[in-house]
Amino acid sequence: MKILRLMALLVVGLMLANCGGEEKKEEKQEVKLQKKTSEPSADNDMVNVAITGNDQMKFNKEEIRVPVGSTVKLTLRHVGKLDAKVMGHNWVLLTQGTEIPVFALAAAAANDNGYIPEDTDKVIAHTKMLGGGQSDTIEFEAPAPGTYEFICSFPGHSALMKGVFIVE
Ligand code: CO
Repeated sequence: MKILRLMALLVVGLMLANCGGEEKKEEKQEVKLQKKTSEPSADNDMVNVAITGNDQMKFNKEEIRVPVGSTVKLTLRHVGKLDAKVMGHNWVLLTQGTEIPVFALAAAAANDNGYIPEDTDKVIAHTKMLGGGQSDTIEFEAPAPGTYEFICSFPGHSALMKGVFIVE
């Protein structure tokens, strides 16, 4: 076992030694980009977006920007500890012109459907309703260029948990 470990270390060491300074710089830049989470990282036309919700009823982002024509891969993570029944979070992207208070009222009545009104035409995309420690990833095509609103549709949350989704 020890020998194997030593060999593995040697291989890693050689790989590092082969790495030019340029490559290292690029690596560092990549890490920086990933940390700057307000900017989605683009891979061809796929855009990864990460957003979190917490026990203080807050999303960590109020604005998300994606390029026109992209496929959005969005992950919502509930970083709190509270159960979905008391502090549930989802991410719901609404069509333009949707009145949030009106939609929120309809959503509040749809508790047996994850607080998404059945047969609604106001929802472009949405995640599952999550409790603390859970996450959900969805994929959807970015809608037409413009500014859209997103909310958490758990009863009472949309007043605080909302933001804009800009397709540009
Ligand atoms: Co919520």
